[in-house]
Amino acid sequence: MRARHKLFIHPLQTIRGLWYYYVACLYDWWNGIETGKQDVHIPYDPTEPKYIRWAFRNLPVNPADYAFVDFGSGKGRVLIAAAKFPFLQVVGVERSKELHEAAMINIRSAKRMKCRDVTSICMDATEFSLPASPCILFFYNPFKGETMDRVVSNIQASLTRSPRPLFVIYVSPLLHEVFIRQHGMRLVKTRSWCNLYFWDGRLSIK
Ligand SMILES: C[S@@+](CC[C@H](N)C(=O)[O-])C[C@H]1O[C@@H](n2cnc3c(N)ncnc32)[C@H](O)[C@@H]1O
Repeated sequence: MRARHKLFIHPLQTIRGLWYYYVACLYDWWNGIETGKQDVHIPYDPTEPKYIRWAFRNLPVNPADYAFVDFGSGKGRVLIAAAKFPFLQVVGVERSKELHEAAMINIRSAKRMKCRDVTSICMDATEFSLPASPCILFFYNPFKGETMDRVVSNIQASLTRSPRPLFVIYVSPLLHEVFIRQHGMRLVKTRSWCNLYFWDGRLSIK
């Protein structure tokens, strides 16, 4: 019985999968980039364009006052989307050299970018220091466990040193609890598979 379940793929599931695939291809073509996961042999999954649109539509900020950081930025799909706004800086942190190099190629070829300071850095996210400005932080399920705990406590330490506002976009928010228990953290908006938080740095001073 169980084996039969595994073999059966509902036709709607196939149609939906194909639809998402074509939307993503179209998105890449329109932006002059290649961010698909088909030729990648390590865990990597780019954010679907509909979540990217939702996140940027709901961000209540003036981009010129904020830096944008994607933790685990892969081939840079989210970086290119962020670079369409005049953020102070757009930076991706990616552990895989292969994905980081693909992101750098995408940054060079991307069309219609408004931010002039866009980069991918090849390093482990636990070693990354946040820009000193207010920031938008993006996470799409990049890591969990000790790595996530260390990244979040590094952010908290940075806020304590230099209190400032942060927004967090968290796609596939499996570790919502890790974020929401931080001082000054508040869930601002949610939809299925995507949360937007405001992290008030001034409240994080103990
Ligand atoms: C689900 S993909 C998301 C890619 C990209 N943010 C996007 O939405 O299109 C997660 C990425 O996190 C990267 N990653 C995993 N652990 C990491 C770590 N400790 N430091 C930096 N990047 C990491 C993976 O290599 C992968 O590219």
